[in-house]
Amino acid sequence: MPIVNRVADLQPDIQAWRRDIHEHPELLYDVHRTAAFVADRLREFGCDDVVTGLGRTGVVGVIKGRKPGKGDLRGIGLRADMDALPIEEATRLPYASKTPGKMHACGHDGHTAMLLGAARYLAETRNFAGDAVVIFQPAEEGGAGAAAMIRDGLMDRFPIDQVYGMHNNPGLPIGSFALRTGPLMASTDAVDIRIEGLGGHAARPHLCIDTVLAGAQLITALQSIVSRNVDPLEAAVVSICEFHAGNARNVIPQTAELHGTVRTLTAEMRKLVEKRVHEVVAGVAQATGTKIDLNYERGYPVLVNHASQTDFAIEVAKEIAGDANVGEMPPMMGAEDFAFMLEQRPGAFIFCGNGDSAGLHHPAYNFNDEAIVFGTSYWVKLVENMLAA
Ligand code: NI
Repeated sequence: MPIVNRVADLQPDIQAWRRDIHEHPELLYDVHRTAAFVADRLREFGCDDVVTGLGRTGVVGVIKGRKPGKGDLRGIGLRADMDALPIEEATRLPYASKTPGKMHACGHDGHTAMLLGAARYLAETRNFAGDAVVIFQPAEEGGAGAAAMIRDGLMDRFPIDQVYGMHNNPGLPIGSFALRTGPLMASTDAVDIRIEGLGGHAARPHLCIDTVLAGAQLITALQSIVSRNVDPLEAAVVSICEFHAGNARNVIPQTAELHGTVRTLTAEMRKLVEKRVHEVVAGVAQATGTKIDLNYERGYPVLVNHASQTDFAIEVAKEIAGDANVGEMPPMMGAEDFAFMLEQRPGAFIFCGNGDSAGLHHPAYNFNDEAIVFGTSYWVKLVENMLAA
């Protein structure tokens, strides 16, 4: 049995917690019920310390190992996310969301339940030296909850020398894991542009400054950043996804607005694209005679897995799933705010298989309870192996 036997015993409880959380989805920082549920369980399990309200609604539990002696590490952090999404659930499950317009469509219900399962096992057995720090964060979905917990002292108040994260992955078979060293997920920056021209009659364009034409030129020019400034062997995305202008076919509008996103896989590329967006905007403004305001806001950083911690995580995953079921994950241009934690401490982010389910953020998505024993076993083995006396 590659999975931890005691974890298999705990599976029904973990599944029940998962379904309870699934039924009661909460958004961003507003995860009060979920956080209270988590904190109650952690106290029940006998965690040595349970701290709530970190990063507004984050929860941290500390479990001290019973093994004497200590290695180089004071402790390691294991992180799960608790928030749901503003999506109308379409699963028709008996435990489907009871709140219209909100659902656990990214499996954070499963992540939270699996880490709770690991906390229960670790508090029961304590077969390690040092501290296991379980971290439950709010607002992963665009709210930078990880950064908020770090600002509230997460890394200084708790003995976290390394930090690990996990996410389920639809399409990856149940009982398998995937990860890679180095950049795994992209930085994501927001681009908000407001173009001011001179509105007027469509039949008299020479007396106007056309914001629609300027916006169209800007979108085209911004595309040249990826095609002409970025090394073709590097990855970057510039997507302008909103263009708002005008409300009549015979009026040249006074203003136009564009909104988009920039994704990159290295800090250098991020800097380059940001610089070029500023330059291109300034150039198009000059060429068209418009005034263009650019608000470029940096969001989540690149998620970079550290080499030796990733190698260690791969060995743990192989112990649980077997050599053939731990694969290399190609980098992707989606973002994940665990990246903030990996900027603070070395560690690794791993994907666990969710089988043939609907995709993440889809109204028919559901976390697969069959993944529980694998994900939870990974957590407990990671602690026992990394904090072996
Ligand atoms: Ni997610």
